[in-house]
Amino acid sequence: MNISLLGKNALVGGSSGGIGKAIAIQLAESGASVTLMSRSADKLEKIVADLPIDKGQNHAFLVVDFSNYEEYKRTITNFFATNSIDILINNTQGPAAGNALEKNVADYQQAFNLLFKTVVLTTTLALEQMQKNKWGRIINVASVSVKEPLSYLALSNSIRAAVVTWAKSLATDVGKDNITVNSILTGYFDTERITQLNAKKAEQLGIPQKEVRSEMESKVPAKRIGNPNEYGYLAAFLASEKAAYITGIQIPIDGGLLKSL
Ligand SMILES: NC(=O)c1ccc[n+]([C@@H]2O[C@H](COP(=O)([O-])OP(=O)(O)OC[C@H]3O[C@@H](n4cnc5c(N)ncnc54)[C@H](OP(=O)(O)O)[C@@H]3O)[C@@H](O)[C@H]2O)c1
Repeated sequence: MNISLLGKNALVGGSSGGIGKAIAIQLAESGASVTLMSRSADKLEKIVADLPIDKGQNHAFLVVDFSNYEEYKRTITNFFATNSIDILINNTQGPAAGNALEKNVADYQQAFNLLFKTVVLTTTLALEQMQKNKWGRIINVASVSVKEPLSYLALSNSIRAAVVTWAKSLATDVGKDNITVNSILTGYFDTERITQLNAKKAEQLGIPQKEVRSEMESKVPAKRIGNPNEYGYLAAFLASEKAAYITGIQIPIDGGLLKSL
């Protein structure tokens, strides 16, 4: 099967590293022109320079900070004033770790702005042209925690559940326009985020980080942590014409980690 995204424009959040970068690479490999977003102009510039252009792709980047909603709103509104996209990957940093008792109302509001409001705003702006074009792909990077909440990630559990429920509702509304809306339920992937979470856990438990990682690997039926490239393959498939009949789903990519159906 050949995944071709030739002639498509993609916008990928949080793509200076980790899962977002891996998705950006696979979309570009499949022929899409990709605009990357994150806070780090220097990193983004290097990645753009390395992305393939052999199929006539034209890549760019946009410096944004999803944690500053008003500033993000200005930047992304300006972007859409002169650009239209076919594929939107909603991805950003996860909110701070911690259990439900540690978090207060302000923490939930902050996580809501970061993870929910930015996603709804970007998607609304992107949809305008997608609906005119009668084609679009919206893919949310979510987490397995929307099915099986993790005790130390109360903010993420709560707000991501809202994102996937919103995505399901939106899929119903825009299906007639040949626009699909799907959420990926992320298991453990080898990125900066996981390294940081493991370091915090190791410090709390007073054990070496290697031990935390081994314990994490042992919980996964596949007995390993995922490679971000594997995530990129799934995203490129969902972004393609081949996945036109897949919408409104929450698809886990987790080496079998989720126990529920
Ligand atoms: N890795 C996992 O195992 C795992 C598991 C479940 C869920 N997830 C979720 O999947 C998402 C991606 O995770 P990841 O592991 O790829 O994370 P990561 O390695 O920490 O990468 C996060 C990306 O987002 C960008 N970013 C961070 N804060 C930002 C901000 N305020 N504004 C704009 N860009 C920002 C970062 O770039 P800059 O620093 O350059 O801004 C980076 O490109 C996160 O929401 C995470 O919670 C990950």
